[in-house]
Amino acid sequence: MFDNSPRQLQQDRLVAERERLSLVTVEGDAADLSTFAAEAFDLIFHPCSNCFMPQVRPVWRECFRVLRRGGILLAGVTNPVRYIFDSERMDDGSLEVTRSIPYSDFRDLNEEDRQRLILDTMEPFEFGHSLEDQIGGQLEAGFVLTALYEDRFPDVEADPLSHYLDTFIATRAVKP
Ligand SMILES: C[S@@+](CC[C@H](N)C(=O)[O-])C[C@H]1O[C@@H](n2cnc3c(N)ncnc32)[C@H](O)[C@@H]1O
Repeated sequence: MFDNSPRQLQQDRLVAERERLSLVTVEGDAADLSTFAAEAFDLIFHPCSNCFMPQVRPVWRECFRVLRRGGILLAGVTNPVRYIFDSERMDDGSLEVTRSIPYSDFRDLNEEDRQRLILDTMEPFEFGHSLEDQIGGQLEAGFVLTALYEDRFPDVEADPLSHYLDTFIATRAVKP
């Protein structure tokens, strides 16, 4: 398990121990996998997490480097359409377009709103990456895309946007 959060890794170890699974945890930034040798892995599962990472293309390049030939990258990514709406109003069910893509909480929020996010809601900063970076970035890194499907939150009452469309994309890509 690879993550840049020691607390997340601690949680992962706790669950693995509880379920009697063997698990190796490594702390680091997904954009820099230099702790791993080239072609060290058969499979990478990249859950829907790069909405917390400022850049995705370096992540795809590093995944490509550490996978062996024929290795598989399973990735979940967020459709950037989720980020064009005012997030606070969206929570109340109102879909008001106020933002453009690529979106960055870090860059596009003012200082006051950033502080509110950190101190009041304790939410992480999020980034709405373009599909060109998400899908085109995998292809540019050298992957061959072999499957893609879309999905949404099952509870459409809790997530108003899911009334209208799938907002998550899963891809399967192979290092040729
Ligand atoms: C949706 S959670 C997924 C947690 C867990 N890996 C799982 O699959 O259930 C997103 C994770 O991405 C991690 N993360 C955010 N930025 C990261 C980065 N630059 N490098 C590595 N992990 C990062 C967060 O710490 C968080 O644990």
